[in-house]
Amino acid sequence: MRTEQPKMIYLKDYQAPEYLIDETHLTFELFEDHTLVHAQLLMRRNPERGAGLPPLVLDGQQLELLALSMDGRELLAGDYQLSDSHLTLQPLAANFTLDSSVRIHPESNTALEGLYKSGSMFCTQCEAEGFRKITYYLDRPDVMSRFTTTLSAEQHSYPVLLSNGNPIASGPEEGGRHWATWEDPFMKPAYLFALVAGDLWCIEDTFNTMSQREVALRIYVEPENIDKCQHAMDSLKKSMRWDEEVYGREYDLDIFMIVAVNDFNMGAMENKGLNIFNSSCVLAKAETATDAAHQRVEAVVAHEYFHNWSGNRVTCRDWFQLSLKEGFTVFRDAEFSADMNSRTVKRIEDVAYLRTHQFAEDAGPMAHAVRPDSFIEISNFYTLTVYEKGSEVVRMIHTLLGAEGFRKGTDLYFQRHDGQAVTCDDFIKAMEDANGVELTQFKRWYSQGGTPRLQVSEAYDAASKTYTLSFRQSCPATPGQAQKLPFVIPVELGLLDGKGRALPLRLAGEAKAPGETRVLAVTEAEQSFSFVDLAEKPLPSLLRGLSAPVKLGFPYDRDQLMFLMQHDSDGFNRWEAGQQLAVQVLQELIGQHQRGEKLLLDQRLVAALRTVLADQQLDQAMVAEMLSLPSEAYLTEISESADVDAIHTAREFARQQLAEALFAPLWQRYQANRELSRHSEYVAEAAHFARRSLQNIALSYLMMSEKPEVLGACLEQYEACDNMTERLAALAVLVNSSFAEEKSKALAAFAEHFKDNPLVMDQWFSVQAGSTLPGGLERVQQLMQHPAFTLKNPNKVRALIGAFAGQNLVNFHRADGAGYRFLADLVITLNALNPQIASRQLAPLTRWSKYDAARQALMRAELERILASGELSSDVYEVVSKSLA
Ligand code: TRP
Ligand code: ZN
Repeated sequence: MRTEQPKMIYLKDYQAPEYLIDETHLTFELFEDHTLVHAQLLMRRNPERGAGLPPLVLDGQQLELLALSMDGRELLAGDYQLSDSHLTLQPLAANFTLDSSVRIHPESNTALEGLYKSGSMFCTQCEAEGFRKITYYLDRPDVMSRFTTTLSAEQHSYPVLLSNGNPIASGPEEGGRHWATWEDPFMKPAYLFALVAGDLWCIEDTFNTMSQREVALRIYVEPENIDKCQHAMDSLKKSMRWDEEVYGREYDLDIFMIVAVNDFNMGAMENKGLNIFNSSCVLAKAETATDAAHQRVEAVVAHEYFHNWSGNRVTCRDWFQLSLKEGFTVFRDAEFSADMNSRTVKRIEDVAYLRTHQFAEDAGPMAHAVRPDSFIEISNFYTLTVYEKGSEVVRMIHTLLGAEGFRKGTDLYFQRHDGQAVTCDDFIKAMEDANGVELTQFKRWYSQGGTPRLQVSEAYDAASKTYTLSFRQSCPATPGQAQKLPFVIPVELGLLDGKGRALPLRLAGEAKAPGETRVLAVTEAEQSFSFVDLAEKPLPSLLRGLSAPVKLGFPYDRDQLMFLMQHDSDGFNRWEAGQQLAVQVLQELIGQHQRGEKLLLDQRLVAALRTVLADQQLDQAMVAEMLSLPSEAYLTEISESADVDAIHTAREFARQQLAEALFAPLWQRYQANRELSRHSEYVAEAAHFARRSLQNIALSYLMMSEKPEVLGACLEQYEACDNMTERLAALAVLVNSSFAEEKSKALAAFAEHFKDNPLVMDQWFSVQAGSTLPGGLERVQQLMQHPAFTLKNPNKVRALIGAFAGQNLVNFHRADGAGYRFLADLVITLNALNPQIASRQLAPLTRWSKYDAARQALMRAELERILASGELSSDVYEVVSKSLA
């Protein structure tokens, strides 16, 4: 907890460090009631900062200083100054050695930052600024050092002792203890430091790199999970091969380790040679993990592995540059997943997520640029904007330069900056230099926040056979940024004739058409492009694959959208046309509900989805995606002022109508797919994901009829399936139905069967937290009393509270404000336990401006109550105070 007023840190104040740390030698003595950390730092004056010896200011928090010496001379109380965040002392020479010993308490660390215990094992999380809770240090990413680490612990409880790099020595100690020393040959910033001590088992494999070096691969887990590691190991080997093939990047150490821990604030962490993972991102097997979980494991394993180059070998100069590693690495893992599975489906999922959640963040009080220019607490900036929008920015560079040009740029970037701590500008400079282009205006994507709006209009001149598209871009104000300059917006597009065929795309003045899809760069606030040789007025397919993270406006009518749904050669835009059609139809229903009219569904949506369902050639995952109506959260995001109840009522009405009208084809496809599932073994591959996704969405529609044969099918699937994807989907459908008896029987049986598997119990909590039936808050409050629930485990908090406040909008936004009160109470409790988790759970309350006046007042009152509740962490303080500003 802070004792000083939290202060804002600015990018413009960046200065290189006064001192450097060439070598870092750490010794950890781990005990049950405390840990001793001895650090020997070989330091020198940073020559870049000139001569003279300014005071040395080391970071350190919650450390009990036991001993301190410089060049072997013990320092006494008067020789240094201690505050609760710094240790300041005066060097006497340009080169010196600093030795310190501190006592820390991992056994009582509930913030899960620094050194802590997850169950019986010791582990670390140092990004972004956790290392300062381990020892006094220059805890900033531009201070890179060579580390050796010695761990000592009781042998029986902690047989496995791990740290970064290679193991170089180990041995027994008296008193039943033992020790091990690890050496990391690569310079790294402190945020990539890691250690693990515990009673762990591992699965082992090897990987032969492109230059024929053999790398040992190990995944460490608690013994009961040893049967759930193979999918992660397969994913790791695929990632290593893919990075060689697509980026020419080879792994550099002789060993690569992953450790799974149950208590973890985020998904995983890319510590050099020793990745530490939330167990939810490692463990996967058919019986306990869904298809979505299998794909998440594959993506996160890849993400952390890819950081070895984009993050570790080339790291960030300061935390304002976070997207340098995160945006780039998300782009890399997204392309990897696209190559391993279905490219179009992966893009659809990512775009739906971005538009629902990142766009909402960009429109709220915490909105910031991909490279923020100030922050109070850096942990609050591991955001959808830095990660997901950051990835979109890298994707646009890829689109503008083409795959080859992009690869030339990354080759130059890695070659030029290997071993350095650099900036987003350095990344862009490598792209520019490798391609002989200028990206000055493009860089506004890094400095300006907010989601641009791109309004498009058309004009056709039959006489000159010319079709003109006019673009107008604008970007709303965001905190601290009133005026925005125009962005470079790559617009990938095609033109369709009346039969749905692709038309040539020759711009006025060009000799020939480049192909049937092309990318226009919109760079002005208003800009037009004229296409020639068009004998009829075409229908445009705009912003294919969401080629830029903008909100597109074009006056499509519903018949045109239906036409695009069927005929667009771009799979993504076929889906997109369906979504826009559904949005129009749902918004019409929302209006009817608000005016107290009888709801009437536009039958064109039924017809369009009937066609989709009948299309046996279409990828079944695409059929499933097209059957999925835009979520309530997305409908909220695109509303000026969101009417929670109208949105829910309208969407449920549409689902009910579709279920009735399409019962026969849904039933037919459900049964065909369930039949295949019943007779095949579980396989974690795209075609099987596709089959199950269509099967499960069909079941959810069918169950709206509550017909006995559907209930029978649902129970059959629930009981007879061999995998969690089918089982959980059937359970979710039951939970949202009115079959009270079957529901409670299934929930009880599930909990009894899986009570010892925390990750499966998380899913059990989530399914119930997401149920939109009345009484949701009371159900969640009751579930908090369940023996498997604890506020100390972030996965549990996310599974129950996160799912409720983030996905169960009708219940969370209850008109009496009880949902808001509940969340605020929780944030106040979590603030003292785990500030990072407290601050993240706050997000739904920060969206107050989206709702009606009564709800706004209730939400703001809860934010005020949190602010007044006493000593707040910098994490919670920043989000609450900015939300109320
Ligand atoms: N660098 C990690 C990743 O994206 C993120 C991360 C893991 C993190 N743990 C954290 C960030 C704790 C902040 C705090 O791969
Ligand atoms: Zn990352």
